[in-house]
Amino acid sequence: MNIYEICKGIYYVGINDRTTHRFEGLWPLPLGVSYNSYIVKGEKVALIDTVHAAQSSKFLTKIEELIGDAAIDYLIINHMEPDHSGSIQAIKAKYPNMQIIGNSKTAAMIKGYYGISDNVVSIADGDTLDLGDGKTLKFVFTPMVHWPETMMTYVEQDGVLFSGDAFGCFGALNGGIIDTQCNVEQYFPEMYRYYSNIVAKYGMFVQKAIAKFNDVTIKYVCSTHGPVWHDEIPRVVGLYDRMARFEGEPGVVIAYASMYGNTEELAENIAAQLSQNGVRNIKVYNLSKTHLSFVLADIMRYNGLIIGGPTYNNGIFPEVEKLLSALKGREFKNRYVGYFGSGTWAPVSSKNIKTYIDCLKVETVADPFDMKCAETPTEQCQKLAAAMAAKVNS
Ligand code: FEO
Repeated sequence: MNIYEICKGIYYVGINDRTTHRFEGLWPLPLGVSYNSYIVKGEKVALIDTVHAAQSSKFLTKIEELIGDAAIDYLIINHMEPDHSGSIQAIKAKYPNMQIIGNSKTAAMIKGYYGISDNVVSIADGDTLDLGDGKTLKFVFTPMVHWPETMMTYVEQDGVLFSGDAFGCFGALNGGIIDTQCNVEQYFPEMYRYYSNIVAKYGMFVQKAIAKFNDVTIKYVCSTHGPVWHDEIPRVVGLYDRMARFEGEPGVVIAYASMYGNTEELAENIAAQLSQNGVRNIKVYNLSKTHLSFVLADIMRYNGLIIGGPTYNNGIFPEVEKLLSALKGREFKNRYVGYFGSGTWAPVSSKNIKTYIDCLKVETVADPFDMKCAETPTEQCQKLAAAMAAKVNS
């Protein structure tokens, strides 16, 4: 089994999941996902987070392979979402005397999810725990990255940060555990997708968490998902920082839906106009085909967004509304936006899309418009593309 010593006395004991189709029941996992857990061995043994309940048996075997007959003295809970807390009961059953360390919010959730309240210790922000043999854990509260109880754990002597969901990504680990052992390029698209799907609403809290470690030397970032970051720490922290501020790179996502191909033609027309206006990064998505998670990832990546779709039941086409609702829920901001609609006898899409766009802190670059039947409004397409190109390339 894949047990790896990250640095002296600190081990990776996480599990790959290549079986689950949808994370949180929503987000496709074409490349799988890892549930990362770690062991810190001083004179005492601490386990940092657990794994999904479905993986408990493998997880216990892995831990036993590493520590043999020794006991786990402390279970540190950085995050209670069940993809990480799901094996608490199994671990406690095997190591009944271990102390479970979290904060007051963690304690309430452990009781609520797993009915456990004995040997649960609530620590305060900044508290430390000496494991002996030169291993001291420091606990730093980072609420809302991604739940209110979230905290990070730092091993002072080794510069190892157990960061919870922060700096994580989708994608199971393909042999290598640390970034130095693998081609990391496979993970960066999945970082955009993971962040935009799961964490995006909490960007402000990600910023606060990053600020808490400004003056600390970090040699390894051990997230709950994806590789352990070492060489790539500046790139990963920089990307999380930019995503938390909703800073996009020059480019435009055109996200459309179309019932009979006419609205699609409009989207194609705008894409061609954007290209002629010098935009090089153009991603065109049919929302009825591509899963929303991939579209959100590119909307997180690029600074321009054009949305279009037909009128449906005197409102917005359902797949378009799903996207708009996701943008609203995540409070997307700092984007240049354009939008259009279509319809046959009473087109109202653009008017309805506006109600969502007005909730976002974004800049609409051109007047919205609706196409009737299959009559492409060429001039309005040109105006939208020219205005968008001028903004995203500025
Ligand atoms: Fe990977 Fe918020 O749990």
